[in-house]
Amino acid sequence: MDLGISGKKAIVNGGSAGMGLGAVLSLAREGVDLVVSARGEERLLRACEEVALETGASITPIACDHSTDEGREKILAACPDPDILVGTCSPPPFTGDYQTVDNSDWLDNLEVTLLSPVQFMKAVVPGMAKRGWGRVVNIGTGAAKYPAQVRILSGPPRAALVNYCVAVAKVVAKDNVMINNVLPGMHHTSSIADRYNAMAEQNGTSYDEEIQKFVDEWRIPAGIFGDPEHIGDFVAMFCSQQAAFIAGQSLVIDGGQTNSTF
Ligand SMILES: NC(=O)c1ccc[n+]([C@@H]2O[C@H](COP(=O)([O-])OP(=O)(O)OC[C@H]3O[C@@H](n4cnc5c(N)ncnc54)[C@H](OP(=O)(O)O)[C@@H]3O)[C@@H](O)[C@H]2O)c1
Repeated sequence: MDLGISGKKAIVNGGSAGMGLGAVLSLAREGVDLVVSARGEERLLRACEEVALETGASITPIACDHSTDEGREKILAACPDPDILVGTCSPPPFTGDYQTVDNSDWLDNLEVTLLSPVQFMKAVVPGMAKRGWGRVVNIGTGAAKYPAQVRILSGPPRAALVNYCVAVAKVVAKDNVMINNVLPGMHHTSSIADRYNAMAEQNGTSYDEEIQKFVDEWRIPAGIFGDPEHIGDFVAMFCSQQAAFIAGQSLVIDGGQTNSTF
């Protein structure tokens, strides 16, 4: 299927690993020109080079923190008028007892999970609307919709982000600017590898055994963790010409872990 976005310009924030990288790869395969941000320069340059080599796409890496004013200025200077904006970050820290989460934890996380994507939308959505074409996809978390104490720093800011996206989506849908969200469950990303390899070392088990424990304990019907490249393909779908009638939606991709009837 041709997504009809060859030659479009995209910013992908948080694109050197995990699901952000999945989105970079899928958009590059569609012929989209990319500006990709991440904090760690070495991994970012390597990732961009590999994707460019595989796809022939034009990819500009910007090493910076997208949750700072300085970072946002750098990214927007490299691509002031994107057709596509994709945003994500690393999963916020897992939390124990809700009583242990203090204000500084909240404020640190709000910058990257909520305020930065809001600032980017404010900066680029008006231009998209003026040009009559735009797509925005935030890769948030299933915890936005299905709260859990362990994900208190992850779910609430993204629930707020989804709320904001729906409000803005209703304003600009008439201008063919479609704003949607992907809400993932557990996937084999770099941050998950770090977490479960550390747990395996601590418990004298393997990564696969730790993943299986999680799958059993949290009853994931698919019986596996997801593939971040598949998330990338769904992000690209939301960025397609064919997405011209999907506004303010949030797609949960979690192997059936949190299915309800609708
Ligand atoms: N993985 C899962 O199983 C899972 C489950 C539920 C929800 N999620 C959600 O899915 C999203 C993506 O998670 P992931 O596992 O793919 O993350 P990841 O593997 O840690 O990748 C995150 C990417 O974002 C970049 N990044 C992080 N903070 C940044 C910042 N402030 N400025 C610029 N770049 C930044 C990272 O590079 P640098 O570190 O070099 O900056 C990296 O490229 C997150 O919203 C997470 O909460 C993930």
